[in-house]
Amino acid sequence: MSVGIDEISFYTSNYYLDLRTLAEVQNTDTEKYYQGIGQEKMGMAAPDEDIVTMAANAALPLVERVGSDSISTLMFATETGIDQSKAAGVYVHRLLNLRDNCRVVEMKQACYSATAAIQMACALVARQPDSKVLVIASDIARYDLDSPGEATQGCGAVALLITANPRLVEIHPEVGNYTEDVMDFWRPNYRSTALVDGKYSTKIYLKSLKRAWENFREASSLAFSDFSYFCYHLPFSRMAQKAHQQLAKLNKSGLSLEQLEQQIEDTLIYNRIIGNSYTASMYIGLTSLLENCRQNLAGRRIGFFSYGSGCVAEFFSGTVVAGYENWLHRDAHRQMLDARKEVDYDEYLQLYRYPDPRDGESCEIERGTTGRFRLAAISHHKREYTVC
Ligand code: CAA
Repeated sequence: MSVGIDEISFYTSNYYLDLRTLAEVQNTDTEKYYQGIGQEKMGMAAPDEDIVTMAANAALPLVERVGSDSISTLMFATETGIDQSKAAGVYVHRLLNLRDNCRVVEMKQACYSATAAIQMACALVARQPDSKVLVIASDIARYDLDSPGEATQGCGAVALLITANPRLVEIHPEVGNYTEDVMDFWRPNYRSTALVDGKYSTKIYLKSLKRAWENFREASSLAFSDFSYFCYHLPFSRMAQKAHQQLAKLNKSGLSLEQLEQQIEDTLIYNRIIGNSYTASMYIGLTSLLENCRQNLAGRRIGFFSYGSGCVAEFFSGTVVAGYENWLHRDAHRQMLDARKEVDYDEYLQLYRYPDPRDGESCEIERGTTGRFRLAAISHHKREYTVC
């Protein structure tokens, strides 16, 4: 029996800032962003959006298809936690009317935790082949204004249904892991923006790739040449290009830069215009590959490199299932991306600075999202979500 991704859907906010605008304000060459880091636009969450509303929006099409009664477990991966205690997925459980004996848990390890959730979901399904596990990764990437990280912000959520005999991608059990206690990127509880040692973080990312790959090679008979495509964690798309070139060099692949680019370019299309979505980014990259690649991917092997600062990394593999193209949400995703509104710099600052009450003060939240779910108010320390 195979286990893996049966369906995948993502959501991002209806607002974005073009990095051209940021470059003009900062008196920076636009090409530093468009080429140097490989990013063009970054999603900005509306005032009434958070990881819960984005997650519910991402998962809605999946739940509508399979029925809310069929999901046995919801795993919610995030590093934009809204509560120290209550799992964000419990709100999503109500918004999506999931059954009351559905297990819900939140998982954290920077951008890596969605991969841990997927591996655990695969293990659950292997034990109970009739079960369907919903994995949601949802994050809002925020750095300080005028910091090097500012151009690598973004937001998004992705929902994946993990089942037996999946219709999209079979996930194989062999994995390679790497963990090291480092301070490359972190966000203490008292901060709303991440702290990051940018250059160091890119070095640790590359070191983790090497070590996770070496560990994967001990566990699996697959070599670099067995993979047709690679999905990398995407803090910014240039990072994936650097990572892929390093992995190819390590394996003496002999492929040209152009051939290497072909193995990753379709995974980068959505990320370039959404920005970093932390836990969700690699899986939005997978969606981008499945929905934009002109080749038929059936039977093709994909290598995945998941990285979470701090740091934990994992290399694993999957094979695309024949007929996958019939089960994608391509049109809905493209319509969502096309319908987004560009904001100018002042509107960007307003979205960036929208009050994030931390003292329990009650407030109504202004309407901004075009999604189905919104955070309408915070009252007596409780978040109030509504369905539009
Ligand atoms: N035209 C074309 N390219 C240009 C250019 C121009 N006019 N000006 C600069 N560039 C190039 C530079 O040469 C550089 O390319 P290389 O890396 O190939 O040398 C690239 O643009 C970036 O320029 P800088 O190195 O000067 O950029 P920076 O120091 O201002 O910021 C960064 C880069 C450190 C990655 C910063 O964006 C950052 O801190 N980002 C957040 C941290 C991050 O994303 N880390 C990734 C690994 S950690 C992780 O993956 C977890 C996560 O999600 C955060």
